[in-house]
Amino acid sequence: MTMSGWLRLEALGLNENGARLLNPVNLTLTAGRTAILGANGAGKSTLLRLLHGLLRPSEGRLIWPTPLSQGMVFQRPAMLRATVLANVEYGLKIRGVESAERRRRAAAALAQVGLGDFAKRPARRLSGGEQQHVALARVWALEPQVLFLDEPTASLDPASSREVERIIGDIAAAGARIVMSSHNLGQARRLAEEVIFIDHGAVLEQTPAAEFFKQPGSEAARRFLRDEMP
Ligand SMILES: Nc1ncnc2c1ncn2[C@@H]1O[C@H](COP(=O)(O)OP(=O)(O)OP(=O)(O)O)[C@@H](O)[C@H]1O
Ligand SMILES: [Mg+2]
Repeated sequence: MTMSGWLRLEALGLNENGARLLNPVNLTLTAGRTAILGANGAGKSTLLRLLHGLLRPSEGRLIWPTPLSQGMVFQRPAMLRATVLANVEYGLKIRGVESAERRRRAAAALAQVGLGDFAKRPARRLSGGEQQHVALARVWALEPQVLFLDEPTASLDPASSREVERIIGDIAAAGARIVMSSHNLGQARRLAEEVIFIDHGAVLEQTPAAEFFKQPGSEAARRFLRDEMP
C-alpha cells in the first residue's frame, strides 16, 4: 500500500432529484479495514455504492492509483433461483473462469463459510443468515482485492453475526481491503482500523478506530455514540 492510499476521493459529491446525498468530500483510504458509521439515512449505503461504482458521482472523482478488483455484499443479498453452488459459481462463470476451476473455487469458498454441505440446496430456500453466508462465499470465490460490505449482519442474530465477522476477518487476513457499514458498534470496534463517520450526507471525520470510540472528533459523532450505546 502506498502513502497515497489505495483509493482517493477528490471532491466527490452526489446530488439526485435535487437532493444533496453526499457533500463533496476529499478522502484517502489507506487502511485495510474501514468502517463507515452514521445514523439511518446518513448516506452510508450511498457512499459505498459510489465507491463500488454503482452510482455515478455528480461531481469530483474517484482515483484508483492501482486498479483493484472489487466485490460488494449487500444488506439483503439477492439469490438466483438456483442451487447454492450455482449461486457461488455464477460470478466466476461471467468472468470466464472455466468449469472445473469454477467448481473448485466455489466449493472451497462454501467450505470457508461453513456451507460445504449446502451446495445442492436451492439458495432461495435458505434462511436470511444462511443467504448472507452464501453472499460472502460468492464474493470470496472472486478473490477481490477490495470488498465493500453494506451492513453485512443487519438482520442476523448474535451468533450468526459473530460467524459473519469471523468470515470477514478471514477475507481481510487473505489480503482484501475491507470497507463496511455497520450499525453494530461492537462489530466496528472489533473489525475496523479506521472509522469514517457520516452525518446527513456529510463525511465529518476519518479517524483511527481506537481514537474514534474513545474521543470522536465531531459533536455529531459524540451524540451518535451516546445514542447507540446501550
Ligand atoms: N434518488 C434519491 N433521491 C432523493 N433522496 C435519496 C435518493 N436516494 C437516496 N436518498 C436518500 O439519501 C439518504 C441516504 O440514504 P442511504 O441509504 O445512503 O443511508 P444509510 O446511511 O445507508 O441509512 P441506513 O442506515 O438506514 O441504511 C436517505 O435519506 C435516502 O432516503
Ligand atoms: Mg444503508
